[in-house]
Amino acid sequence: MENRRPLIAGNWKMFKTSPEAVETARQLVKLVAMTTDIDVMIAPPFTALAQVSDVVRGSCVSLGAQNLFWEAQGAFTGAISPAMLVSVGCKYVIIGHSERRQYFNETDETVNKRIKAAFDNDLIPVMCVGESEKERESKNTFSVLDKQLKKGLEDFSADNLKRLVIAYEPVWAIGTGKTATSEQAQEVHRFLRSVLEKSFGNTLAKSIRILYGGSVKPNNIAELMAMPDVDGALVGGASLDPETFSKIVHFKE
Ligand code: 13P
Repeated sequence: MENRRPLIAGNWKMFKTSPEAVETARQLVKLVAMTTDIDVMIAPPFTALAQVSDVVRGSCVSLGAQNLFWEAQGAFTGAISPAMLVSVGCKYVIIGHSERRQYFNETDETVNKRIKAAFDNDLIPVMCVGESEKERESKNTFSVLDKQLKKGLEDFSADNLKRLVIAYEPVWAIGTGKTATSEQAQEVHRFLRSVLEKSFGNTLAKSIRILYGGSVKPNNIAELMAMPDVDGALVGGASLDPETFSKIVHFKE
């Protein structure tokens, strides 16, 4: 896995009120306290960010948001700016999740603007890409991913992208219990890295972390992490329970 530091990230999606989020974060911080060789991130809903931030401060758990809007401020009712996320202690932001693309009309073009805004504000974007079941069945996986990656990263240079994290989340594996096999994940991760290499050069391609997401559980994380191009996981359902998520974080034990 070269020198890439593993990242295990929990996307809480639209789950947990603020009190529930605080309690989950408290338990998690205790359970993963001894973690030193892995980055851990949780992305609670916006409404819980400030309170969860107080809980994770000084621990090995970093805070992430599930989205941002690219404008700095203005009349954009319901939107959250990058500076707002920074002000509550976010270090990461998930961008272009398939649920955002599917239900909220996000496109590769808006993903591109969001990534730029994240970098401009020193947030680490976790850019999500992934094919649908239909696209996989019609053997379009690679062309779909190639387009998502290239359009999403259009006009960036290798220098801009040093801190980028990519999450490969096959849509058919999200919340379905169907995980991509570790070989399927590796095949795609290698492909994504080759696209990055062609566009931005070998040094950058080798340094970017590519996470796998889609029904990651304590019982499949170790084999996924054993793959040379899998650098971590973006976990949905199994990140909601602190015990379960901590078992994923402790996949080596
Ligand atoms: P599940 O782990 O629930 O399949 O969700 C994956 C995901 O979408 C993480 O962003």
